[in-house]
Amino acid sequence: MSSFLSTLVGSKEEEEKEEVEYNIICQKHKLLLQTLTKGNGWRVQHLYNYKGFWLNPNTVKNNLLLHTYFKSLPTDIVLAAFMKSGTTWLKALMFSTLNRHRYNFSDHHLHNHGPQSTFPFLDCESYPITDFTNIPISPRLFATHYSYTLLPACIKSGKIVYVCRDPKDVLISKWHFMSKLRSKDLPPLSLDVAFELFCQGESEYGPFWEHILSYWRASLESPEKILFLKYEEMKKQPEVVVRKLAAFMGKPFAEEEEEKGVVGDIVKLCSFENLSNLEVNNKGVEKFGSLVEVEKRDFFRKGEIGDWKNYLNEEMKERIDRITDDKFKGSGLSLNATV
Ligand code: A3P
Repeated sequence: MSSFLSTLVGSKEEEEKEEVEYNIICQKHKLLLQTLTKGNGWRVQHLYNYKGFWLNPNTVKNNLLLHTYFKSLPTDIVLAAFMKSGTTWLKALMFSTLNRHRYNFSDHHLHNHGPQSTFPFLDCESYPITDFTNIPISPRLFATHYSYTLLPACIKSGKIVYVCRDPKDVLISKWHFMSKLRSKDLPPLSLDVAFELFCQGESEYGPFWEHILSYWRASLESPEKILFLKYEEMKKQPEVVVRKLAAFMGKPFAEEEEEKGVVGDIVKLCSFENLSNLEVNNKGVEKFGSLVEVEKRDFFRKGEIGDWKNYLNEEMKERIDRITDDKFKGSGLSLNATV
């Protein structure tokens, strides 16, 4: 047989093997859903408790696929966050910091492309068709909302940037966002119900506190592998955070760049005021897999610390703060103090 022919036969066999493997995972997923505890969804009707975290049926399936198909490179960097904690902002910051030599700040890629499109979101990709071998730039960047415990070992061996945010602001941000995406077949989700579910840990990718702790503990064990950031710190000292980020990603700013004010240029480019006013971030939708479409403008709401004060009463505030204090007791982590 000619080598050309054997390659073709080989790839056909490979394809068939892959299809069988994919079908086995789909079957496993179907059976798995029957065994998992069901909870209330914010966007869809039901969430499933998978290994301690509440996921919608598709993100359970994609977690199985991610574990089977994702091939990491040692240079990969993954941005991880609980939903509504600053993913969009950090995507813009990481992308523009790493690619600062490729673009001019007066005519930048981010002027015409939304932050979501700058690098792939692992939780919604079409595995195994998407294999990321087409990404030409190193390090490759990826984003995820999965907890640390749900990541494949190959991702854990690379670098991770994690961002967290005051739970009260996360709750309000998430309630607004999910209410927009919520299936029209379901009754609206009131803030009171969302609050109760959030406190019980029941929301997509939750419990919120366990999510944070999963990365916090890992960052204490391997600080060189996990950069742990807070949204509030980023708001207060964006330049300090951008310098940390650049050094962590292996591209610290040179003296000459500091003198030219490149750090300030990046902060300005990625600021809420700038990004939220760009036409590209106000028109059209961002697709996540085949099922979820998000209006691009919905990634930018207020971008402030403390908007929860306009929604939560004193009793609600105290309840969340108490849960946060209890959960984080002895961990060395505090979020309430940042507000
Ligand atoms: P609010 O709803 O409180 O305004 P994520 O990107 O993880 O989905 O988080 C969304 C939250 O980050 C929203 O918070 C959004 O407005 C805010 N945000 C988006 N871009 C931002 C930026 N460049 N600077 C600060 N906050 C930003």
